[in-house]
Amino acid sequence: MQRTRPDLPSSDKRWKLVNATMRRNGYAGHALIEALHSVQDAFGYLDEVAMTFVADSLDLPLSKVYGVATFYHLFMLKPQGRHACVVCTGTACYIKGAGALIEGIEQRFGAAPGETTADKSLSVLTARCVGACGLAPAVVLDGNVIGKQATEQLIDRIEQEIAE
Ligand code: FES
Repeated sequence: MQRTRPDLPSSDKRWKLVNATMRRNGYAGHALIEALHSVQDAFGYLDEVAMTFVADSLDLPLSKVYGVATFYHLFMLKPQGRHACVVCTGTACYIKGAGALIEGIEQRFGAAPGETTADKSLSVLTARCVGACGLAPAVVLDGNVIGKQATEQLIDRIEQEIAE
Protein backbone atom coordinates (compact mmCIF):
# COMPACT_ATOMS: atom_id res chain seq x y z
CA MET A 1 0.00 0.00 0.00
CA GLN A 2 1.23 3.47 -0.90
CA ARG A 3 2.13 5.63 2.11
CA THR A 4 0.55 9.03 2.24
CA ARG A 5 3.14 11.74 2.04
CA PRO A 6 3.02 14.65 4.47
CA ASP A 7 1.68 17.95 3.17
CA LEU A 8 4.25 20.57 2.28
CA PRO A 9 4.92 22.68 5.41
CA SER A 10 3.73 25.89 3.69
CA SER A 11 2.94 27.35 0.30
CA ASP A 12 6.55 28.51 -0.01
CA LYS A 13 7.53 27.00 -3.34
CA ARG A 14 10.98 26.07 -2.12
CA TRP A 15 9.32 23.06 -0.46
CA LYS A 16 8.43 21.85 -3.94
CA LEU A 17 12.11 21.81 -4.84
CA VAL A 18 12.87 19.76 -1.74
CA ASN A 19 9.99 17.42 -2.41
CA ALA A 20 11.06 16.94 -6.04
CA THR A 21 14.49 15.82 -4.88
CA MET A 22 13.01 13.25 -2.50
CA ARG A 23 10.55 12.05 -5.15
CA ARG A 24 13.40 11.62 -7.64
CA ASN A 25 15.00 9.26 -5.13
CA GLY A 26 11.77 7.35 -4.62
CA TYR A 27 11.48 8.74 -1.05
CA ALA A 28 14.12 6.21 -0.08
CA GLY A 29 15.76 6.57 3.31
CA HIS A 30 19.22 6.30 1.81
CA ALA A 31 18.61 9.58 -0.01
CA LEU A 32 18.49 11.46 3.30
CA ILE A 33 21.72 13.37 2.76
CA GLU A 34 20.62 14.53 -0.67
CA ALA A 35 17.28 15.62 0.79
CA LEU A 36 19.04 17.66 3.49
CA HIS A 37 21.28 19.21 0.86
CA SER A 38 18.25 20.26 -1.11
CA VAL A 39 16.77 21.92 1.99
CA GLN A 40 19.98 23.79 2.64
CA ASP A 41 20.35 24.79 -1.01
CA ALA A 42 16.82 26.20 -1.04
CA PHE A 43 16.58 27.72 2.45
CA GLY A 44 20.18 28.26 3.50
CA TYR A 45 19.84 26.19 6.67
CA LEU A 46 17.98 23.31 8.28
CA ASP A 47 15.37 23.98 10.93
CA GLU A 48 12.99 21.81 12.86
CA VAL A 49 10.13 22.23 10.39
CA ALA A 50 12.36 21.11 7.53
CA MET A 51 13.84 18.16 9.39
CA THR A 52 10.39 16.99 10.49
CA PHE A 53 9.14 17.25 6.91
CA VAL A 54 12.09 15.25 5.58
CA ALA A 55 11.73 12.64 8.33
CA ASP A 56 8.01 12.19 7.63
CA SER A 57 8.53 12.09 3.87
CA LEU A 58 11.27 9.47 4.04
CA ASP A 59 9.58 7.57 6.87
CA LEU A 60 12.60 7.96 9.13
CA PRO A 61 12.70 8.81 12.83
CA LEU A 62 13.34 12.50 13.46
CA SER A 63 16.26 11.55 15.68
CA LYS A 64 18.00 9.94 12.70
CA VAL A 65 17.55 13.09 10.61
CA TYR A 66 18.88 15.26 13.45
CA GLY A 67 21.77 12.89 13.89
CA VAL A 68 22.84 13.13 10.27
CA ALA A 69 22.26 16.89 10.10
CA THR A 70 24.43 17.55 13.14
CA PHE A 71 27.12 15.02 12.28
CA TYR A 72 28.10 16.51 8.94
CA HIS A 73 29.64 19.93 9.30
CA LEU A 74 28.51 20.90 5.85
CA PHE A 75 24.98 21.27 7.14
CA MET A 76 24.03 24.54 8.76
CA LEU A 77 21.42 24.36 11.48
CA LYS A 78 18.98 27.19 12.00
CA PRO A 79 21.03 30.22 12.95
CA GLN A 80 21.02 31.97 16.31
CA GLY A 81 20.13 35.47 15.16
CA ARG A 82 16.71 37.02 15.77
CA HIS A 83 16.61 37.81 12.05
CA ALA A 84 17.97 35.77 9.16
CA CYS A 85 19.11 37.08 5.80
CA VAL A 86 19.74 34.40 3.20
CA VAL A 87 21.53 35.69 0.11
CA CYS A 88 21.09 33.49 -2.94
CA THR A 89 24.41 32.77 -4.62
CA GLY A 90 23.02 30.61 -7.42
CA THR A 91 24.21 31.35 -10.94
CA ALA A 92 21.46 33.82 -11.86
CA CYS A 93 21.87 35.75 -8.62
CA TYR A 94 25.62 35.65 -8.72
CA ILE A 95 25.68 37.18 -12.19
CA LYS A 96 23.34 39.91 -10.99
CA GLY A 97 25.53 40.91 -8.07
CA ALA A 98 24.98 38.60 -5.10
CA GLY A 99 28.67 38.96 -4.25
CA ALA A 100 28.30 42.72 -3.77
CA LEU A 101 25.29 42.17 -1.49
CA ILE A 102 27.28 39.81 0.69
CA GLU A 103 30.18 42.25 0.88
CA GLY A 104 27.87 45.12 1.71
CA ILE A 105 26.16 43.17 4.47
CA GLU A 106 29.47 42.08 5.92
CA GLN A 107 30.80 45.63 5.95
CA ARG A 108 27.69 47.10 7.52
CA PHE A 109 26.77 44.37 10.02
CA GLY A 110 30.10 42.63 10.52
CA ALA A 111 28.79 39.14 9.73
CA ALA A 112 29.95 36.98 6.83
CA PRO A 113 27.87 34.08 5.47
CA GLY A 114 27.45 31.47 8.18
CA GLU A 115 27.92 34.06 10.93
CA THR A 116 25.66 35.85 13.37
CA THR A 117 26.27 39.39 14.62
CA ALA A 118 27.67 39.69 18.14
CA ASP A 119 24.36 41.11 19.42
CA LYS A 120 22.52 38.16 17.84
CA SER A 121 20.27 40.47 15.85
CA LEU A 122 21.16 39.07 12.43
CA SER A 123 22.39 35.83 10.91
CA VAL A 124 23.74 35.85 7.37
CA LEU A 125 23.48 32.78 5.18
CA THR A 126 23.70 31.76 1.57
CA ALA A 127 21.58 29.41 -0.53
CA ARG A 128 22.20 27.97 -3.96
CA CYS A 129 18.85 28.82 -5.54
CA VAL A 130 15.79 30.01 -3.68
CA GLY A 131 13.58 29.41 -6.71
CA ALA A 132 13.17 33.07 -7.61
CA CYS A 133 15.75 33.45 -10.38
CA GLY A 134 13.54 36.01 -12.17
CA LEU A 135 14.08 38.31 -9.18
CA ALA A 136 17.87 37.99 -9.19
CA PRO A 137 19.69 38.90 -7.09
CA ALA A 138 17.25 37.32 -4.63
CA VAL A 139 17.43 37.47 -0.86
CA VAL A 140 15.18 35.84 1.71
CA LEU A 141 14.79 38.08 4.72
CA ASP A 142 12.98 36.43 7.62
CA GLY A 143 11.20 34.09 5.22
CA ASN A 144 10.17 36.76 2.69
CA VAL A 145 11.71 36.65 -0.75
CA ILE A 146 12.82 40.06 -1.91
CA GLY A 147 14.41 40.58 -5.26
CA LYS A 148 16.34 42.95 -7.47
CA GLN A 149 17.93 44.72 -4.55
CA ALA A 150 20.86 47.06 -4.76
CA THR A 151 23.23 46.83 -1.80
CA GLU A 152 22.14 50.09 -0.13
CA GLN A 153 18.48 49.27 -0.58
CA LEU A 154 18.95 45.85 0.96
CA ILE A 155 20.91 47.19 3.90
CA ASP A 156 18.08 49.68 4.58
CA ARG A 157 15.55 46.83 4.48
CA ILE A 158 17.59 44.77 6.91
CA GLU A 159 18.01 47.74 9.25
CA GLN A 160 14.26 48.33 9.22
CA GLU A 161 13.61 44.67 9.92
CA ILE A 162 16.03 44.66 12.84
CA ALA A 163 14.52 47.86 14.25
CA GLU A 164 10.96 46.49 14.27
S1 FES B 1 19.80 31.44 -8.61
FE1 FES B 1 19.06 32.78 -7.11
S2 FES B 1 16.96 32.39 -7.10
FE2 FES B 1 17.71 30.97 -8.51
